[in-house]
Amino acid sequence: MTASFTIAIDGPAAAGKGTLSRLIAAHYGFHHLDTGLTYRATAKALLDAGLPLDDESVAETIARNLDLSGLDRATLARHEVGEAASRIAVMPAVRRALVEAQRRFAAKLPGTVLDGRDIGTVVCPNAPVKLYVTASPEVRAKRRFDEIVAGGGSAVFDEVCADVKKRDERDMGRVDSPLRPADDAHLLDTSEMSIEAAFQAARDIIDGALTQE
Ligand code: DC
Repeated sequence: MTASFTIAIDGPAAAGKGTLSRLIAAHYGFHHLDTGLTYRATAKALLDAGLPLDDESVAETIARNLDLSGLDRATLARHEVGEAASRIAVMPAVRRALVEAQRRFAAKLPGTVLDGRDIGTVVCPNAPVKLYVTASPEVRAKRRFDEIVAGGGSAVFDEVCADVKKRDERDMGRVDSPLRPADDAHLLDTSEMSIEAAFQAARDIIDGALTQE
């Protein structure tokens, strides 16, 4: 294969796309980028430096200087980092800077898996495989809630659910690159699907596309 084979995975928060993306990348031996981490790392750098979250050119400078190699969800998982990420993700200059870095990543050989909100629509519109992974807000809130509790934290389910819905509104309602399935994306509703079943369904789609390359 001379060009990189890119798998674009989009969907709302807590739909299972992170787990699915990692399984897919490991199975095919492809590089994986969780693009949410690029927004989170930019936001965390602003928070850590005590810089304002509403200054687009400051946020853009941070985004342009981001090193994609050391991104780690554990250090970026905090709720306030996610909130700040969702605020700077509405800024066109920040998005342009991060999308450029994401496209460079997508070109890596032999192939790449990128997951986020706008991969199939904006970052890699020519990706040969696009998956849109979703689940009902209640199911996603339950998964997030169980994760928090399993990690020893405490949470109120109704608050987690309200939070998931608020994040959806912001991601789907923004003017620049709103979250939506690309016209040629395969929809994968995991509300009543195990991760194994979702992985199997994804493999069937990807294997089909790989044989046409
Ligand atoms: O998936 P996540 O919760 O780590 O994403 C953090 C925020 O970044 C979320 O509010 C949506 C935004 N994001 C985005 O706008 N575009 C992407 N490709 C990935 C994430």
